[in-house]
Amino acid sequence: ARYEATVSAPVNIACIKYWGKRNTALILPTNSSLSVTLSQDHLRSTTTSSTSQEYEQGDRLWLNGREEEISKGGRTEVCLAALRQWRREVEDKDSAAPKMSEWPLRIASYNNFPTAAGLASSASGLAALVYSISQLYQLPQTPSQLSLIARQGSGSACRSLFGGFVAWEMGERDDGADSLAVQVADRDHWPEIHALICVVSDAKKGTSSTSGMQKTVATSTLLQHRIKHVVPPRMTEISRAITAKDFTTFARLTMADSNSFHAVCLDTSPPIFYLNDVSRAIISVIEELNRAALASGAGLVAAYTFDAGPNAVIYALEKDMPMIVQTINEFFPQSLDFPDPFGVLAQPSAR
Ligand code: DP6
Repeated sequence: ARYEATVSAPVNIACIKYWGKRNTALILPTNSSLSVTLSQDHLRSTTTSSTSQEYEQGDRLWLNGREEEISKGGRTEVCLAALRQWRREVEDKDSAAPKMSEWPLRIASYNNFPTAAGLASSASGLAALVYSISQLYQLPQTPSQLSLIARQGSGSACRSLFGGFVAWEMGERDDGADSLAVQVADRDHWPEIHALICVVSDAKKGTSSTSGMQKTVATSTLLQHRIKHVVPPRMTEISRAITAKDFTTFARLTMADSNSFHAVCLDTSPPIFYLNDVSRAIISVIEELNRAALASGAGLVAAYTFDAGPNAVIYALEKDMPMIVQTINEFFPQSLDFPDPFGVLAQPSAR
């Protein structure tokens, strides 16, 4: 027999950033983080996994049609081993269940966005991989429990198992059993929030998140301040802002945390620069829009955030998005070179 499952997982963009591990093998973070999962329609990974006792020995993986090696002891292998272990528990309980845990796997994953665009694909990719095999194996585990495995594929991937607003709670335990993702609010709670992805550069980034954050942990004194005194109150405050649909607070904290993250990158030795001149110009434009809005007695209209690269993600309410898109297009006509003329207008996802 041959069994197959296909699922999609969207990209998530953090408002409170994950940056630093206290355990690199288990991928346990030095602080909690919180993100918005984007809509399935825009940036997602779709993964088909299949298994059969007739397959030749050895698991195999294809990313966007190209076969990738599953390296021994690597992150993908760790995820597959953990999923097999859970499948074994299903088989132990139900003697009629096919012994799939012993069969080779074939996994094929596609992104519906160019990987070259420099947009995080590891989060959606690993989340889709874990989710598709959990479906294939008919595992009883909840998304939070699955997030424990996705986390070991790539930290930020654990948040892509939920739609809407998602927290990755850092946890305290040494074995990582309490370092998992939980949904703060679903997409329908605050459907007015939209995200605009501004592709400033599609060049591959200089320093990967994985190695960059380790250098920060090893050398930055500012990181210690961030993880102890800055992030914990922000996690509480932004969760409250989401619950209350308070865009001004949400935007203020999102921008502050992006800037705090890039500050600890600069505080790393040697310093890590992810923003470029265009990124900084986008910050100035959004700050100016917000200044004008505040001066007219309104709340903030937009929030920028940047991950480990120069591309901006701008969160805004739907009603303000046309004005923001127009403004960005006026200032940066040639810098937004995603297929769509003004980048991707992505709605955060429902599931
Ligand atoms: C800046 O999840 O890519 O996007 O756990 O080593 O795979 P690994 O790192 P990764 O780091 C993401 C860092 C970030 C912030 C965030 O998404 O929270």
